[in-house]
Amino acid sequence: MTRVAILISGGGSNMVSLLDGMADGLGEPCLVLANIPSAGGLAKADARGVPTACVDHKQFDGREAFEDALHEQLLKSGAQVVCLAGFMRILTASFIAKWQGRMLNIHPSLLPKYKGLSTHQRALDAGDIEAGCSVHMVTPELDDGPILGQASVPIKAGDTAQTLAQRVLVQEHLLYPRVLGEFLSTQA
Ligand code: GRF
Repeated sequence: MTRVAILISGGGSNMVSLLDGMADGLGEPCLVLANIPSAGGLAKADARGVPTACVDHKQFDGREAFEDALHEQLLKSGAQVVCLAGFMRILTASFIAKWQGRMLNIHPSLLPKYKGLSTHQRALDAGDIEAGCSVHMVTPELDDGPILGQASVPIKAGDTAQTLAQRVLVQEHLLYPRVLGEFLSTQA
């Protein structure tokens, strides 16, 4: 079984869907790590018996020191694959180089459109008729790596960034576990 670590910053709804998806699959969750002590996802992982850790970026002087601590926790957990799931820190090229080819991310847009933040509002402002989410390999360029899978949803009249985010999130919870399973089958 491939050992999978999941990095979160918030509620961890994508993390939960990955845990559920690995229940009878090729992956074994070895760690859920948050950069924020109050991340709600930590309690959800605890409740599922998955080891958790917090590496609080505010406790470190500079990005390198933070990422060294992050890397140490990942190595200690025996992680072989890393999934970013609502993880809101930009990672440096040197950190990514240690995990490139084994690190995935989910981004709430139909990449290559709308890299970065406020993806749903940008799609609304552009008058797009659809939005969605993408799972991609993490590379040093933000939200730019090879795309492993996407899911789209219609943008409806009267949509706000919030209503659109909710519609996309439903698809994220289906897409990420499926794509991770496919990826792990290539690692097996
Ligand atoms: C999701 O829209 C995800 O795409 C983005 O963060 C949001 C919250 O994710 N990266 P989660 O509920 O913390 O998994």
